This record gives sequence, structure tokens and C-alpha cells, in this order.
Amino acid sequence: MQRILEHVKPERRNKEIVHNPIYPIFWQRSFHFETIEQVISYLVPLVVPVLKLSGLYQRGLQNALDLRRTTFTVNDPNLPANFDGFTILFLSDLHIDGNDALIQPFCQALQETAVDLCLLGGDYRFHIRGEFRKVMDRFEQFVPHIQSKEGIIGILGNHDSWEMIKPLERLGIVMLINESVQIKRENESLWVLGLDDPHYYKCDDYHKANRGIPEEAFRILLSHATGTLFNLDSEPVNLYLCGHTHAGQISLPLFGPIITHSKLKGPFVYGRWQYKHIKGYTSAGVGTSAVPVRYNTHSEIVVITLQKRSGQDDKHYSEVSEINTHW
Ligand SMILES: [Fe+2]
Repeated sequence: MQRILEHVKPERRNKEIVHNPIYPIFWQRSFHFETIEQVISYLVPLVVPVLKLSGLYQRGLQNALDLRRTTFTVNDPNLPANFDGFTILFLSDLHIDGNDALIQPFCQALQETAVDLCLLGGDYRFHIRGEFRKVMDRFEQFVPHIQSKEGIIGILGNHDSWEMIKPLERLGIVMLINESVQIKRENESLWVLGLDDPHYYKCDDYHKANRGIPEEAFRILLSHATGTLFNLDSEPVNLYLCGHTHAGQISLPLFGPIITHSKLKGPFVYGRWQYKHIKGYTSAGVGTSAVPVRYNTHSEIVVITLQKRSGQDDKHYSEVSEINTHW
């Protein structure tokens, strides 16, 4: 517990305490009407009744159970040779207490996916606050199905409480709070840096996580959202894994995602992107939040294979040379 209290920033702890879990969220929010997305987000409570009236609700529930496996390779000449072919299972935005029907196909997908390392990208709870007993029950159900030689490493998202760290660690998950872990193979290593939430709590601290890591090390950065990118222009990050957007969750034909809860739009909302030297992936996530439905997006588990080579996979990345928050 001492270690957790040292690493979880007081502003996160204070912000969680300030919010009363039984007080309606509507009254806790400061109101922002700067963007269309912010205005639309206040209409979320109307989404389920409208969908039910329109007859589309059941279709949305079924779409949310369409769990797919996304696979791709990341080529990097700087990858240590012993990690050539290293596989990573990346699971983000589980919101695992939000849809009871998802646990069975999720466990099935995990049973069929053997990897070297499993990374969890945060957002384990459906709601932003409140009790999380059901989240832990679900973790106890699915964690035994994860087949990962090097174990499971996780971070917190904006839906998670710092008080979830200890029970998650009891399940054998290494929780990183602006910390890093070294994965060794013979005389070589790669490092996983895990940051606290950059979106709501704004407690991500790359420099703290990076402390003590050799300059030439291969770095995989685990951050719940793309917000950390603003501070990484000249940092030696090889691969950036995040989620948070759910790929929009509800995406309209021709228009695209309505709400992403992210300043960074375009290629940062879903899939592979490259910002300067950093290759990244934004996952659509396993679960759903706010409303348990998806339209024109799907749930996913992600399997990444690292390869020690240059080029070849680059054409799959949407290259971004400058961060533009007005996409
Ligand atoms: Fe999420």
C-alpha cells in the first residue's frame, strides 16, 4: 500500500474523494459548450430511450458483442534481436461490468490467444465512479484464461479508481503508476512504461516512468489515451499503445464517430498512426461505456507481433507530423 500511495498523485486521490458516488453525475460536471461534441455528450442519457423507440437498441447490443481479433506487426530495426517475433496481447477499455453477455466470448477469445506478454490499457469499470466489486468478480473470471508467458501488466484509465490497484495486483497483474518494468531475454531487454490517466485525472508522468531506463532501450509506452503525446516530441518511445476512444463506439455513415472524448481526432481515434518517430495504436476496446451499444464500430482484442526490421509495415500507418487538435 505504501508504494501505491507514493505513486498515485494526490490530485487523483482528491478528485476521486470529492466526487460522491451516489450523487448524480449530471450535477458534478462543469459545463462546457465549446465544441459540438461537448454539447452532444450532454444528450447521452437520451440515447437509450431513443434507440429503444427506434427499434435499433437490440442491434446495438448485438454489435457490442461482435468481439474481433485485430492482428498486425510492428517493424523496428532497434528492437533487440532476442525479441524478434515477440507477441503482445493488448486489451483496453474492458468496462467489464457493463455487459454481462460479453464475458463468455471474451474468455473464449483469450483461450484461443497465446502470447508472450499481455498489456491492459485501463478503463475496467463501466461507470466513472462507484463500487467496483463486480469489476473484480469479472477479472477473477477472465484472468485465468489469459495465456501470457511474461504475465500481465496494467495501467489505470479515467473510469478506474486508484483503490482498484491492490485487488488487481492480488490477481497477479503488475500495475504501473508512472512506473516501468523491464522484460529480459538473455542479455537483452525491452521496457514497458505504464502511465496514469492523461485524460480526466491528467496524472501521466512520462519522465517519472522513464527514470533509470537506459537511453538506447526499446520502450513500449502504455497510456490510456493519446493525451500523453503532447509531451513526447523528442522522447525515445518506440511504440505507444492506448485506447479510450472506443473508436467512437457510435459512428454514423459518412459523418463518422459522434463522440470520442479526445482532442486528437483523425487517425488517432482508431487504429495505427505514426507521430514523428513514434508508432502508435489506438484500440477500439473490448467493452463499451455510457451506453452498452455499438454502431459501425466493433469490439476488439489486439495482437501485435514485434519484428526486428525496417520498413514494410510503414504503409499501414497514418503519418502525422504535427498534432492538430482541430481535426
Ligand atoms: Fe473507455
